Amino acid sequence: MDLYEYQARDMFEKHGVPVLPGIVAETPAEARAAAEKLGGAVVVVKAQVKVGGRGKAGGVKLARSPEEAEQHAAAILGMDIKGHTVNRVMIAAGAAIAEEFYFSVLLDRAERRYLAMCSVEGGMEIEELAVERPEALAKVAVDPLVGIDAAKAAEIVDEAGFPEELKAQVADVIQALWTVYAEEDATLVEVNPLVRTEDGAIIALDGKVTLDANADFRHPDHEALEDDSETDPLETEAKSLDLNYVKLDGSVGIIGNGAGLVMSTLDVVAYAGEQFGGIKPANFLDIGGGASAAVMANGLHVILHDPQVKSVFVNVFGGITSCIEVANGIVGALETIGDEATKPLVVRLDGNAVEEGRAILAAANHPLVTIVDTMDGAAAKAAELAAAAA
Ligand SMILES: Nc1ncnc2c1ncn2[C@@H]1O[C@H](COP(=O)(O)OP(=O)(O)OP(=O)(O)O)[C@@H](O)[C@H]1O
Ligand SMILES: [Mg+2]
Repeated sequence: MDLYEYQARDMFEKHGVPVLPGIVAETPAEARAAAEKLGGAVVVVKAQVKVGGRGKAGGVKLARSPEEAEQHAAAILGMDIKGHTVNRVMIAAGAAIAEEFYFSVLLDRAERRYLAMCSVEGGMEIEELAVERPEALAKVAVDPLVGIDAAKAAEIVDEAGFPEELKAQVADVIQALWTVYAEEDATLVEVNPLVRTEDGAIIALDGKVTLDANADFRHPDHEALEDDSETDPLETEAKSLDLNYVKLDGSVGIIGNGAGLVMSTLDVVAYAGEQFGGIKPANFLDIGGGASAAVMANGLHVILHDPQVKSVFVNVFGGITSCIEVANGIVGALETIGDEATKPLVVRLDGNAVEEGRAILAAANHPLVTIVDTMDGAAAKAAELAAAAA
């Protein structure tokens, strides 16, 4: 899960990273009130969207008075930044910036460790810097078992080329940022810019944090950080039903058991779909091992709610759960759903008790269900039906 800047700011503050006061506003009037609360001095109005490059897109604006903050908020709220609508702004105290630096730490999957990156040339041009003068961006490997201790932080500020008089101060902030990374189970903590102010403070002026969802069980407080407004409503519904569902762009709804089987089903459908003018899968949905009627019904319910879906491919391999239960699950689900089932279903069953399972489906003789014996054949049939309905 990616956090908004204001959420990252709060998390930084909790772990002792120096930040400036910031107040979230959803209307221009709230923005004005927030600027007044910050003392009426210079503030920065910042679009809160989960995408970089807000400054360049006009989503970060300096305001010299609460009136100006209100005007900037009116312009920024509702703005579209790279496909993200701005619903909130953060009114942040204005900093007198002397210098902008860059720091990040992230999970380096290929090297199976963490990687810290740091530069004395931070700011909005960091992407160009990384490409054009990679030597100006220090990259320091971090041992996951040690983390960024005082020695590692000293190495990072050395490599980045900080002047002697700033090293200790910046190293302290880097260690505090490491605390955020480690204690919150993040996979990314990025600060751009990390600034030195004219009065000599080192402050994180922007923050990007990605949390590792696999560690959610250790952080009950992280649930409150989730924000449904940017999530697909079908994904939200699926999550509430405890389903492993990911919305995709195509028109063939997919239900399968086991993540591996569902992944290959997506491939097979996309491949078969090429013959029908580029038909693609509409989702990933893994209903897991024990495909009961209730789970099958929930899955079908979510998929049939997707207006982009034109046909559904149910691809189940009976393992510990036999095809008898799966077939009963499908028949039961279709009964539960009733009139909601309006789109053709292609079912491919294989594995444990396949003959009995197919016999149950054949006996039910549901008008929307086509049984196909092979995965390739079923994918082609589902793609054909989706193309016909488009
Ligand atoms: N509180 C502040 N006071 C003064 N200037 C600020 C403040 N916050 C941001 N800025 C200036 O605005 C620039 C852009 O802000 P920021 O980095 O937060 O947004 P961004 O461009 O979207 O960055 P990113 O691409 O990393 O998301 C900063 O580099 C900094 O110069
Ligand atoms: Mg930034």
